[in-house]
Amino acid sequence: ENDILSKLPLRGKKVLITAGPTYEAIDPVRFIGNHSSGKMGFAIANAAANLGAEVILISGPSHQQIKHSFVTRIDVVSADDMYNAAHTYFNNVDIAILSAAVADYKPKNIANQKIKKKDSSLVMELTPTKDILASLGVIKKNQFLVGFALETNNEIENAKSKIKRKNLDAIVLNSLQDKGAGFATNTNKITIIDKDFSEKPFELKSKIEVAKDIISEIISKIN
Ligand code: CTP
Ligand code: CA
Repeated sequence: ENDILSKLPLRGKKVLITAGPTYEAIDPVRFIGNHSSGKMGFAIANAAANLGAEVILISGPSHQQIKHSFVTRIDVVSADDMYNAAHTYFNNVDIAILSAAVADYKPKNIANQKIKKKDSSLVMELTPTKDILASLGVIKKNQFLVGFALETNNEIENAKSKIKRKNLDAIVLNSLQDKGAGFATNTNKITIIDKDFSEKPFELKSKIEVAKDIISEIISKIN
C-alpha cells in the first residue's frame, strides 16, 4: 500500500525504550533522583521511529519532548512504576532498549507527612529497587534485549558481566572517563558490546548521531 513506508527497515517492528531518571519518594515533597536528562533515550526513540518502528517510550521525569506519530510516550515516576510499565509492554515487542538511569535504591518507608527537621542527624534506610532489565532478561523469548552500562572503571569488564548477569543481546557502554560523555551533555561516546563479547567503539558524537548508530547496530544484528 505504501511504498516508502514498506522500505523502512523497522517497519512492522515494535520497540520498547526506557529513558530518563526515576524519582524515589522520601515523603510527600522529597525524592531521591539523579541527573539523567533523558536525551539519549528520547533520541533512540526518534531514530527507531524514523526507520518505521512502532515505539513505546517509557520515560521517567524528563523535560524532553517528542513529536512523532509512531511514538507512544508513557510517563512514570518511580522505578516500581517503570518496572510495571515495562512488563506491561515487553511481551508484545521485538526489541527492548533500556537506557533509563533507574535509581538503584529507594527509601524503605515513605513518610506520609513531610519529615520535619531536627538538630540531630537523619538516618534513612534504603532498599534496592527491582532491576527492570534483569527481570526482562529472565522472561525474554525472541526479543532482542539491549542494556546500557555507565561505568567509571573496569568499563569493558563490568559491561560484559552485565551482559551475562542480565541475559542481554547487547550492551551500550558509556564511560564517564570519556570527556563529553554522560548525563547532562549533548554528546556521547559509546562502545557497543554484543553477547559474543565483540566490541565496537564509536567516536564522540551528538546523542542524535549516537542514537542512529545504536539503532543501525541493532538492525544489523537482528537480520
Ligand atoms: N537498570 C534497570 N533497572 C534497575 C537498574 C538498572 O533496568 N533497577 C538497567 C539500566 O537501564 C541499564 C542497565 O540496567 O540498561 C545497567 O544500569 P547500571 O546502572 O549501569 O547497572 P546496575 O546493574 O544498576 O549496576 P551498578 O549501578 O552497580 O553499576
Ligand atoms: Ca545502577
